Amino acid sequence: MTFVLTTPLYYVNDKPHLGSTYTTLACDAIARYRRLVGEQVIFVTGVDEHGQKIQRTAESQSKSPQDHCNIVTKQYRELWDYCDISNDKFVRTTSSIHNLVVNQFFNRVEASEDIYIGHQKGWYCVGCEEFKEAANSESTPTCDTHLKPLEWRDEENLFFRLSKYQTAIEKLVDKDDFIFPINRRNEVRNFVNNGLRDFSISRINVSWGISVPRYNGHTFYVWFDALLGYISSLYSSDNDIDLADINKKGWPASLHIVGKDILRFHAVYWPAMLMSAGLDVPRQIFAHGFLTREGNKMGKSTGNVIDPKRLISNYGIDQVRWYLLRDFQFGQDGDFQQRRFVDLINNDLANSIGNLLNRSSSMSRKWFSNSTPEVQAIPESVLSVKSIDVINKCKINMNLLHFSTVAESILSLSKEANTYLNGKAPWKLIKDSKNQDEVRIVIYNVLETTRIIGILLMPILPNLSSKILSQLSIKSSQCNWKDHLTWGLLKQGELLPESQPVISKIELTD
Ligand code: MSP
Repeated sequence: MTFVLTTPLYYVNDKPHLGSTYTTLACDAIARYRRLVGEQVIFVTGVDEHGQKIQRTAESQSKSPQDHCNIVTKQYRELWDYCDISNDKFVRTTSSIHNLVVNQFFNRVEASEDIYIGHQKGWYCVGCEEFKEAANSESTPTCDTHLKPLEWRDEENLFFRLSKYQTAIEKLVDKDDFIFPINRRNEVRNFVNNGLRDFSISRINVSWGISVPRYNGHTFYVWFDALLGYISSLYSSDNDIDLADINKKGWPASLHIVGKDILRFHAVYWPAMLMSAGLDVPRQIFAHGFLTREGNKMGKSTGNVIDPKRLISNYGIDQVRWYLLRDFQFGQDGDFQQRRFVDLINNDLANSIGNLLNRSSSMSRKWFSNSTPEVQAIPESVLSVKSIDVINKCKINMNLLHFSTVAESILSLSKEANTYLNGKAPWKLIKDSKNQDEVRIVIYNVLETTRIIGILLMPILPNLSSKILSQLSIKSSQCNWKDHLTWGLLKQGELLPESQPVISKIELTD
């Protein structure tokens, strides 16, 4: 089975911020992990380019929507390259492939008799691209997320018969492996149990969208179009698009990672659309929390964004990945704090993991002719026992997307190895020739623990792990989590390369 993993497709109304970078980095860790355990992965990311929000932004900058999209899409691509994101696909909803997919999909939904013309009245938030429930009042209501006045809409739209799928969706969201985390599952269940209402899937006042076939003047509602981007991403040419055999391309998606604000679209509307078109629903959806800054959601409209490129160029990609994946519980909100960021990098990466590598490899170089020690047998030790335990924990928690638990387990192994080294004090033992064997074993044990830490870090910190492993004469490209996470695989008598610092302490900058 191919593991199809997706990030949301980001709106290109503005350049990427740390919130979107967070989602993409987390997905990158998942994709890398899945590959390391031997799965075939298709990691999809991309951009959502249509809709009124983008049309308006382009107009306000006196650009054509397409020119505007080209500029911002390029910024997304460049950022993901800069972050070394391992995506296999990058989908644009303005591509011709996507246009064909949307048309074919709509034809299937229409053939299921799930489309009708209706009248849509209500308050709309252009920022969310969503109709909002608003209390009946004289004054204009405001969007809770964007804090801007909602706009009144009263127009003829095409509707999708979501209500027809009430029972099927109830069954789906009740499954115990479809929506994570569980508190979010309960929210979606409540929403569904209150009764699903048909929703409009076209607009007559938005020209920047895909035209609806046979319905002049209608363009597809941006969400109807955007969700289909996940399917378009699996095609590579206009000529081979046949939704009837989409499963051959890897569909259904194994995992959609989304922010909590867009869970309902993915867990309710999207599966119903797929059922209507006769296609399989995604296997799992995980909703993560928001990055806040001093308690406020970080976002383009709130103006409190952190520029990811600047953060990475100031501190490094591994440093940013570590902070975001180690300090925030994936699934809950997390508050970005610069001081904490600096402290964690210095304490965890420089003082603990970096220091372990420096100490163990420099002693090995010094005492064993620049090589790893040769030992007769490797007796069980606190480090071998702890390593096996941490390996198991990391495997379990990567599956659960508990990145912070994975990171903390790796860190606890590094701390244990430093404590072991301090306790054994091989720099004292070496002074007496009768201790030679013990010194070899001690150094072997800490180097082997460092090797395991290097491999365990591969999904979370691909660059740092590769630097750590190369200091042990190991190529990370030749390591995986199936064959190389066994205690005792460090080669004995292996020449070590010249010592290179792999991580330095950082200081708080602005
Ligand atoms: N275009 C839609 C998604 C369509 S998917 C077929 C969209 N785009 S978005 O750019 O507004 O948001 C994309 C993702 O970024 C969402 O999952 C959203 O939750 C996430 N984030 C936006 N701000 C965020 C934070 N401050 N923190 C974490 N994630 C945040 O919605």
